[in-house]
Amino acid sequence: MTAKIISGTEVAAQIREELKGRVAKLKEKGVTPALAVVLVGEDPASVSYVTAKAKGAEEIGMHEETLRLPADAAEEKVLQTVDKLNKDPKFHGILVQLPLPKHISTDKVISFISPEKDVDGFHPVNVGRALRGEPCPLPCTPHGVQQMLVRSGYDPDGKHVVICGRSNIVGKPLTAILMQKKKGANATITICHTGTKDIGYYARQADILVAAMGVPKAITADMVRDGAVVIDVGVNRVEDKTKEKGFRLVGDVDFDAIKEKAAAITPVPGGVGPMTVTMLLMNTVEAAERKAGLAK
Ligand SMILES: NC(=O)c1ccc[n+]([C@@H]2O[C@H](COP(=O)([O-])OP(=O)(O)OC[C@H]3O[C@@H](n4cnc5c(N)ncnc54)[C@H](OP(=O)(O)O)[C@@H]3O)[C@@H](O)[C@H]2O)c1
Repeated sequence: MTAKIISGTEVAAQIREELKGRVAKLKEKGVTPALAVVLVGEDPASVSYVTAKAKGAEEIGMHEETLRLPADAAEEKVLQTVDKLNKDPKFHGILVQLPLPKHISTDKVISFISPEKDVDGFHPVNVGRALRGEPCPLPCTPHGVQQMLVRSGYDPDGKHVVICGRSNIVGKPLTAILMQKKKGANATITICHTGTKDIGYYARQADILVAAMGVPKAITADMVRDGAVVIDVGVNRVEDKTKEKGFRLVGDVDFDAIKEKAAAITPVPGGVGPMTVTMLLMNTVEAAERKAGLAK
């Protein structure tokens, strides 16, 4: 069997087309969805993520502003910036680009964002709402994984989903999303981590296997059953002297071997990655729709 390749680039483009329509509808009502991004410092990876978010927002007709603070900005200054944005009715979504410099408490800053504007879905109130299955902005990467599955014809309903990795940004919220008694969810979940003895034992029982560990080739072909759907969230740099930058990006699964066994698999790059920014845009549009009374 050679697996179908689930293209995040294609699913993301489809969602962005839909978002353009939703933005146009909001504009007809006099509302322009607006996203504020706070960037502290000039970490190159963060700068490139922020640029992608700004470009994506512009392409679907949203308003976006990036507020740049120096790397040595005091925590108080960051909190004041967030406070201003919380109070500014022009903005529907606020995103503080992570990681923050070490002298700033990420938890404090995230908890300071108004839950209604928390388009990353990391505020403790939204984490609780997500677990309870209440309407709220869902964390972008796991929400993107759910959308990729559903839109590619692999609805998790009734399936056994094994998630490798229990971080607060991927594994745990994906569990919260897929366990709900809802359309596009309703799955049976197993979650594995470094305390799991024999991950392969659990992984081989997966209808849908999600790898979010941050370890290249952590999932090998012997850990995947024939016909499983494999979602690779991992993004890892490995040295590659043939590349101009001296490295290439790989996921957490042994793609070449597993694609011969799985029914479907996501590539890296071009898999989950493009979905993350798209779901951020969706959360911002949804926040604007909620405020305009067009969504729950
Ligand atoms: N495509 C995207 O947009 C996107 C977004 C976010 C993250 N990512 C990528 O996804 C990967 C995971 O990110 P993250 O932020 O969730 O990472 P993280 O915070 O480092 O968490 C990694 C998780 O994997 C578990 N783990 C690590 N090594 C393991 C092993 N050998 N066996 C079993 N479990 C293991 C850890 O277990 P413990 O809890 O026991 O330590 C932890 O729960 C990274 O490669 C990251 O770059 C991609």
